[in-house]
Amino acid sequence: MTQDELKAAVADAAIKEIEPLLAKDTVLGIGTGSTANLFIDRLGALSDRFKGAVASSEASAERLKQQGIEVFELNSVGSVPVYIDGADEVNDHLHMIKGGGAALTREKIVAACAERFICIADGSKRVDRLGAFPLPVEVIPMARSYVARELVKLGADPVYRQGVVTDNGNQIIDCFDFMIADPVAMEARINAIVGVVTNGLFAARGADVLLLGTAEGVKRQT
Ligand code: A5P
Repeated sequence: MTQDELKAAVADAAIKEIEPLLAKDTVLGIGTGSTANLFIDRLGALSDRFKGAVASSEASAERLKQQGIEVFELNSVGSVPVYIDGADEVNDHLHMIKGGGAALTREKIVAACAERFICIADGSKRVDRLGAFPLPVEVIPMARSYVARELVKLGADPVYRQGVVTDNGNQIIDCFDFMIADPVAMEARINAIVGVVTNGLFAARGADVLLLGTAEGVKRQT
């Protein structure tokens, strides 16, 4: 199976997973990226069975609307029963690196407000140790050089993602050559650097369910 077919398979599995939650007052949390897009495209057929969604990016909000799904501000909703999103890497503890699409901060906010996080990913995303994928860090623009110097002290090789402005008007630094032994500790350590908005480690709040697309079928891990 191709990577795209594996992503489609986990999007199908995620629809089955969330169907029992759908009710007239249900507002879903929806992530960002190619796997989340496949999920959104399938969700459109169910749009009359739930109230709407909160999106983790402008791009996902637009795609949801195209599917006839009403998009709500998180502040008007409070919490969501479930957040469905992809990952760039996921380990056995369901800690993740996210933010390849630069949406990490809003993803982390919606995930924080979710009772359950369902990660949907093709098998290539499964790793023993996080860090081969460059860890994204969203920074306030004026702090970029300072934050980069602090990231060097932590052992990373930081590279400014040129030309990218996040939905929040900020910039992204990607940390190369940065294998992460303790994701929970490193997530907190990087977030403590002045000027960091957030980083792409989702460890303090990891996923609750992983739907992983493999050649043998979709594997479910909790
Ligand atoms: C967006 O910022 C990311 O966190 C995505 O969720 C992640 O990059 C996974 O994207 P794909 O589903 O496109 O692999």
